[in-house]
Amino acid sequence: MGLLPPLYFLFLFLSVSSGEISSFVGVNYGDLGNNLPSPKQSAKLVQSLGAKCVKIYGANPAVLDAFKDTNIQVSIMVPNELIINISNSQKLADSWVQSNVVPFYPKTRIRYLLVGNEVTSSSPKQIWPRILPAMRKIKSSLKTHSLHKIKVSTSMAMDVLESSFPPSNGTFRSDIAGPILKPLLQFLNRTKSFFFLDVYPYFAWAADPKSISLDYALFESRNITYTDPVSSLTYTNLFDQMVDSVVFAMKRLGYPDIRIFIAETGWPNSGDIDQIGANIYNAATYNRNVVKKLTAKPAIGTPARPGWVIPSLVFALYNENQKPGPGTERHFGLLHPNGTNVYGIDLSGKTPDSEFEPLPKPDNNEPYKGKIWCMAVGGANATALSSALSYACSQGNKTCDPIQPGKPCFKPDSLFWHASYAFSSHWSQFKKAGATCYFNGLATQTAKDPIILKDQPPRSSIGCPNQHHHLRSHPHPVGLPRSLD
Ligand SMILES: *[C@@H]1O[C@H](CO)[C@@H](O)[C@H](O)[C@H]1NC(C)=O
Ligand SMILES: *[C@@H]1O[C@H](CO)[C@@H](O)[C@H](O)[C@H]1NC(C)=O
Ligand SMILES: *[C@@H]1O[C@H](CO)[C@@H](O)[C@H](O)[C@H]1NC(C)=O
Ligand SMILES: *[C@@H]1O[C@H](CO)[C@@H](O)[C@H](O)[C@H]1NC(C)=O
Ligand SMILES: *[C@@H]1O[C@H](CO)[C@@H](O)[C@H](O)[C@H]1NC(C)=O
Ligand SMILES: *[C@@H]1O[C@H](CO)[C@@H](O)[C@H](O)[C@H]1NC(C)=O
Ligand SMILES: *[C@@H]1O[C@H](CO)[C@@H](O)[C@H](O)[C@H]1NC(C)=O
Repeated sequence: MGLLPPLYFLFLFLSVSSGEISSFVGVNYGDLGNNLPSPKQSAKLVQSLGAKCVKIYGANPAVLDAFKDTNIQVSIMVPNELIINISNSQKLADSWVQSNVVPFYPKTRIRYLLVGNEVTSSSPKQIWPRILPAMRKIKSSLKTHSLHKIKVSTSMAMDVLESSFPPSNGTFRSDIAGPILKPLLQFLNRTKSFFFLDVYPYFAWAADPKSISLDYALFESRNITYTDPVSSLTYTNLFDQMVDSVVFAMKRLGYPDIRIFIAETGWPNSGDIDQIGANIYNAATYNRNVVKKLTAKPAIGTPARPGWVIPSLVFALYNENQKPGPGTERHFGLLHPNGTNVYGIDLSGKTPDSEFEPLPKPDNNEPYKGKIWCMAVGGANATALSSALSYACSQGNKTCDPIQPGKPCFKPDSLFWHASYAFSSHWSQFKKAGATCYFNGLATQTAKDPIILKDQPPRSSIGCPNQHHHLRSHPHPVGLPRSLD
């Protein structure tokens, strides 16, 4: 190739940056851990994973600084707690943009600004109708600073749907379809932005492993397909089915062409004893396959949108030890907190599977059938344990009666055993409502009969946890925050 005149380079640059979005996979950088690498080290790790984009759950200046002068696109977030105030005040929106975007742009390639995270899944209802007004104010602040390249959106979970099967029947929840989503889609259409969607085939499969094939959820099915009787589209994996159910729901509201950005997808590499299919083998298989699909050139798209590019972000960079909820929540990482890989992965899709180390065989792809106890963790902070004990005892029906003085489970009279009793008792009552055996890291599941745990008091004195709290695993994992239903 000969030398090209500088103008040609400029033209190339402009045409690429204003043209169609290209296929890429990035990573979500959550930081709910007390043992994670610094932002600077994290930026290096994100690059070494082959990510093209990183999403953070806020706008931490140290993180934004760490990504300056890299090629990584950055997605930042207005936290849910600020939505109401920003929706009421252009001045507040301006000052948020002034302090969280302007100082870092363009050296840090901020490209997406999400106003809230899964707001319609968990946050108080009064925030829902404020999302769009807050987005409008943020968009207007960006305009003031001529920051036209930054797309404004908000991220949603699959629970925006009330029906997702068959995909052609995809319908938004009636409480949000008209009042919240229709005007949101109109905004996304007008501003050429994306519908940011969290898609977890893991949760859909784990909630119903009898009806859904694991291979179908892992993009490994060679012979299992599903043909939608209404659209006649044929599906070969659960991910496409879930994405298309949202495509059809958007179509139903009159917006058939809004582009989808996968804000989160992934598979846990470990979890609680009773959480089916959370293992390194499945996590590596899912993430490698989703990367292959999403980085393929030409783009594959989905049955309803063949050939469409779907920009995507895997969840997550690290296993985060302070994330609340069931064990899987703390085990979505591609990396351990010390920065080493949990399994081989290349988000650019360029490394063939054969170049990765062999994976450990999965051993929990069937529902767990043994007994499980929810015990206090050894060596837990006594002050914290004591307040967790009071909390657990204050909830439910007679949760702690048997550990009162004179009652059968009072002995052994120790904080550890009383807390273990209370945690098991609490968990057994509230499990169906989504409670987990976690208690801010003070509790953990064990499949070993506590009576035979080493260094514990002898059997005769602790009959109670053993007699009353054999907690058979529920056939379906419960209360998962991001499940399909
Ligand atoms: C929102 O504004 C109110 C009134 O000015 C203030 O009291 C409150 O602290 C603000 N909330 C947040 C999360 O900043
Ligand atoms: C389609 O969705 C509706 C709810 O929106 C549901 O009542 C109906 O059963 C679904 N149809 C099928 C075939 O599953
Ligand atoms: C699909 O393939 C798997 C393994 O390749 C095989 O065990 C199974 O019987 C096949 N199922 C059908 C319906 O052909
Ligand atoms: C907006 O909607 C119009 C009409 O349906 C459509 O032609 C256009 O492609 C949409 N634009 C985007 C970015 O979704
Ligand atoms: C990193 O952490 C993992 C998980 O705790 C551990 O297995 C591995 O040995 C550690 N590697 C290094 C180099 O410290
Ligand atoms: C123990 O927990 C209490 C209350 O949760 C906290 O204030 C204290 O700092 C903790 N102590 C240690 C050593 O972590
Ligand atoms: C406690 O008992 C009442 C009345 O029997 C019942 O309605 C309620 O669901 C129980 N609560 C729990 C957490 O089991």
